[in-house]
Amino acid sequence: MKRTLLTLLAALALLPALADEGMWLPSLISERIDDMRAKGFRLTAEDIYSINKASMKDAVVLFNGGCTGELISPEGLLLTNHHCGYDAIQKHSTVEHDYLTNGFWAMSRAEELPNEKLWVRFLVRMEEVTDRIAAGETAAQIVEKAKAEGTGYKASVEQMYYGNQQFLFVYEQFDDVRLVAAPPSSIGKFGGDTDNWMWPRHTGDFSMFRVYASKDNRPAAYSPQNVPYRPKKHFSISTKGVKEGDFTMIYGFPGNTQEYILSDAVAYIAERSDPAKIAIRTGRLDIITKAQESDPALRIHYAAKHASIANAWKKWQGEALGLTRLNTVASKQEYEQAFQAWAQDKPEYRDVLKELKAEYARIFDAYFALELMSETIRTGELNRIYNRPSFGDEIYPQVKALNRDLFRVLYREYYDNCPQEYMVPLFAAEVERLGSPEAYAELMFEATHKEDESTEAPELEALRADIRTTVTRIFEELGKCSTRNLNSERLNELYTTYIKGLREWDTERAFYPDANLTLRVAYGKVGGYQYADGVYHKPYTTVEGILEKDNPEIYDYNIPQRLRDIIAAKDYGRWGVEIDGRTTVPVCFLADNHTTGGNSGSPVVNADGELVGINFDRTWLSTMSDIAFDPAFCRNIALDIRYVLFVIDRIGDASYLFEEMDFAE
Ligand code: ARG
Ligand code: GLU
Repeated sequence: MKRTLLTLLAALALLPALADEGMWLPSLISERIDDMRAKGFRLTAEDIYSINKASMKDAVVLFNGGCTGELISPEGLLLTNHHCGYDAIQKHSTVEHDYLTNGFWAMSRAEELPNEKLWVRFLVRMEEVTDRIAAGETAAQIVEKAKAEGTGYKASVEQMYYGNQQFLFVYEQFDDVRLVAAPPSSIGKFGGDTDNWMWPRHTGDFSMFRVYASKDNRPAAYSPQNVPYRPKKHFSISTKGVKEGDFTMIYGFPGNTQEYILSDAVAYIAERSDPAKIAIRTGRLDIITKAQESDPALRIHYAAKHASIANAWKKWQGEALGLTRLNTVASKQEYEQAFQAWAQDKPEYRDVLKELKAEYARIFDAYFALELMSETIRTGELNRIYNRPSFGDEIYPQVKALNRDLFRVLYREYYDNCPQEYMVPLFAAEVERLGSPEAYAELMFEATHKEDESTEAPELEALRADIRTTVTRIFEELGKCSTRNLNSERLNELYTTYIKGLREWDTERAFYPDANLTLRVAYGKVGGYQYADGVYHKPYTTVEGILEKDNPEIYDYNIPQRLRDIIAAKDYGRWGVEIDGRTTVPVCFLADNHTTGGNSGSPVVNADGELVGINFDRTWLSTMSDIAFDPAFCRNIALDIRYVLFVIDRIGDASYLFEEMDFAE
């Protein structure tokens, strides 16, 4: 009896459906709805996605091709992250009007700021077109037909399960999107790169925009005559809050996951690629951070650069660590062996694993060379001309000194790590001729940092031409494929077969297609986790924690005086709530929804579909979930909507915005 129970428990533990893993296609959400409802959800599949009536999908947008946003009023008001609106906020910022530092609050519609080249896309519908393509229609024909259906329509056919299924996505794109509000960076980016990917978190990572349309509510280029867009659907906001165990759902545009890759690819990522890229970026960051600490002008000059280098750097560290801790290589190997045992007598599948492994072995070095180039000799820093007259004087000597270090360090890394066969020939020849990568670095540094007006550096041109040739050669070896991940044309074909086989064989597994920047639903619950021995991370933070981190001496932790005063006096007014026996304002919370890059800005809704938060990050130990989801560790980080409202009201004095929102009771 006891043994049966244990076997049963062990078997249950292997079922992925039990974990809150998965990024589900909205049009197929009816397949998950029973599970969602069992976990607390109170709405229907039609409420999430419908082509017959307004549904939640009509309130979610792809924000400028890399983030998600959500509509929160019948007048086009949109919420996303501060880091998603960052470019727009930065472009409007000048020394006189420094919205990045001080925040921006439009006090009327007239004050909302237009943004060139900022767009949002609503999903009109999605449908499977596998059969149409099998019947001879091309993806391009299907897309053209769909685009002709409406003004501002965009369409694409996307592969699911490595092409086993194809889906048409039809979008309506709006190009007049105006900035409404952004908190000061000391709130919106509080904690900077130090707190990025970390918990406990206190970042007020939100900004607000408004979608504008023509008078007949259609997409239109910017015009002062445009009017606020009236969405089919907008989220109502719940100020009731969430507590540990509560159901949450995230609706957004996750960018890229690789859940079905072989153990070989996981080993490549965790043991070769991530460690090499981390080490190189550590070197770059050391150089840049040292300069930033020496001079406030340099701190600003390198702020965006630092943030973007550090973001993936930290993510890879968590990923490599997580994959090692979870033993993903070994567990995938076991899984592959079990598959092979099943496939042995099936001609269609018998050889696929062997061929996949052979193809990996063929392309590892080529792909690594490609990755290495992007991290070293193809970085922006090493590929421009910094002659003094064109750069400007102010910080030139410091930038120059920093660049010299970068050249030396990155040339050395490239030389030491690049597989011989794929090294850029001119690079190898120059190192040979001059004696060391450092000597070549000096030469290239001098060539790109001159005291005269010349805008050319023939030495750099020559190297770049040779780099291009090498890249082309590698692309030819990989064939026609997306090289966003370790990939080749042949791998893709083989994976089509492998995934087909997996789905036939592993009938217990809840399969979902890898993220590919198409709209997905993730669901789970609010929850903390055991961070380390003796350390449990509670799933929520409060404003008092902001004061604990507050430090006027450290840029990223220097909060606005107004916020400091409010928290010190506990002057929370209507925003104060009881948590753990004290009056406070909640800031962020953790949940185990399966998310990735692109889910930034996604609405986090409760069991009734009401907005309770905005997704903006994961903990660094979670980032492995792009490859293997570990329910014990994987947590997304959301901003509590009540902190958003508090900041709008008490920091922005912009509570007039509440009038157009719906508050659920
Ligand atoms: N880690 C988050 C994401 O992947 C936030 C990045 C922006 N913030 C930062 N401090 N770099 O996009
Ligand atoms: N910050 C990420 C983004 O911009 C989300 C964090 C993640 O889950 O990777 O989409």
